[in-house]
Amino acid sequence: MAKAERETSESRLADSADSPWWLRRRGDLLKIGDRHLNAYVYDGDSVRRAARRLLDLEAIDRVLFAMKSNFNPDILRLLAAEGADFECVSPQEIEHLRRTLPDLDPGRILFTPNFAPREDYAWARENGVCMTLDNLYPLRAWPETFRGARVFVRIDPGVGRGHHEHVITSGEQSKFGIPRFEIDELESLAGAAGATVIGIHAHSGSGIPEADTWGLVATALAEVADRFPEATVLDLGGGLGVPSRAGDPEFDLEGMNRALMEVRERYPDYSIWLEPGRYLVAEDGVLLDHVTQLKGKGEKRYVGVSTGMNALIRPSLYGAYHEIVNLTRYGEPTAGAVTVVGPICETGDTLGHARDLPDCQEHDVMLLLNAGAYGRVMASEYNLRPVPPEIVLDA
Ligand code: LLP
Repeated sequence: MAKAERETSESRLADSADSPWWLRRRGDLLKIGDRHLNAYVYDGDSVRRAARRLLDLEAIDRVLFAMKSNFNPDILRLLAAEGADFECVSPQEIEHLRRTLPDLDPGRILFTPNFAPREDYAWARENGVCMTLDNLYPLRAWPETFRGARVFVRIDPGVGRGHHEHVITSGEQSKFGIPRFEIDELESLAGAAGATVIGIHAHSGSGIPEADTWGLVATALAEVADRFPEATVLDLGGGLGVPSRAGDPEFDLEGMNRALMEVRERYPDYSIWLEPGRYLVAEDGVLLDHVTQLKGKGEKRYVGVSTGMNALIRPSLYGAYHEIVNLTRYGEPTAGAVTVVGPICETGDTLGHARDLPDCQEHDVMLLLNAGAYGRVMASEYNLRPVPPEIVLDA
């Protein structure tokens, strides 16, 4: 494509409301690239829009943001302002949330610990935070901790789904949830401890594209809820998938909503909550870095970039696919397949295999897409490479 022609088609793309935010904000991102070697960049407007899509669903009464996916203070404030509540997995997450949003009512927090020490449950009670029990052990071993408590219980609905076996959180092979054959015992242990079950919870897994999942889970939970007269909430967890490759279908929100409306008709006494992490933030974030070095070895051509598995571990840990874009040369024709690697001392530090990219040169600004969820929060200083700073556009 001739240069002038390319610029025209690119600016048309960049102007189009349908184009992804990182393309519309290409100029801002390139400027950030002038100042930072590496950075996580989030688009506040995209977070707001994703939140509204979920909060507007007729079948959903509450949306609790799973802050394990992204704990950036601006993002937390922005989601709270839109009306999202929060699901937290450690006292440290709750404390971080409180430092960020000092006026947040504890009633907007649900604490869902897993194999946590007894002190965490006692701490939650002292701090007036509602919690989810996902094992009988706490009730059996420490009943006095739950006297007078109003709790959620996490049930294993039996069917687990997810983008990788590590993130399937229901079914026989997962450590989570109270199996249905323990419900009788749950009922008697909760009664003996003096705890009241007010909500039934499940989380099937993460990165689930099948929109029928939540209707199936809601039905399973409603059957369990029948056993607990004070239970008024079915919390269906998170897990809503997002497309990772160009051409993947969008998550079928309408389909999920329809299925849940049917459940509501059958079980009108319950409100329905969701706990999404990824859906709210994944597509709203990119990891920006720069080309460092180039190399050819055997049949492979490598493009090295300035940050790797220390900043974004998902490709190494789950084989997760993150689209890679050369932002400097966006729109240029591809120059064949390359392997994109980071600077960390492991062969596993590969961010993308066989990627068709333009002819990359040192200093080009590169983006790893869909990095807003489970990116920065799972980053480390492995090799003492610094964790990239975070920048929120339109916070
Ligand atoms: N609720 C509970 C109880 C959870 O355990 C999780 C995620 C969520 C909600 C939010 O799930 P989401 O909507 O984000 O899928 N590090 C992995 C994901 C682990 C998810 C763990 N639990 C990844 O990078 O794919």
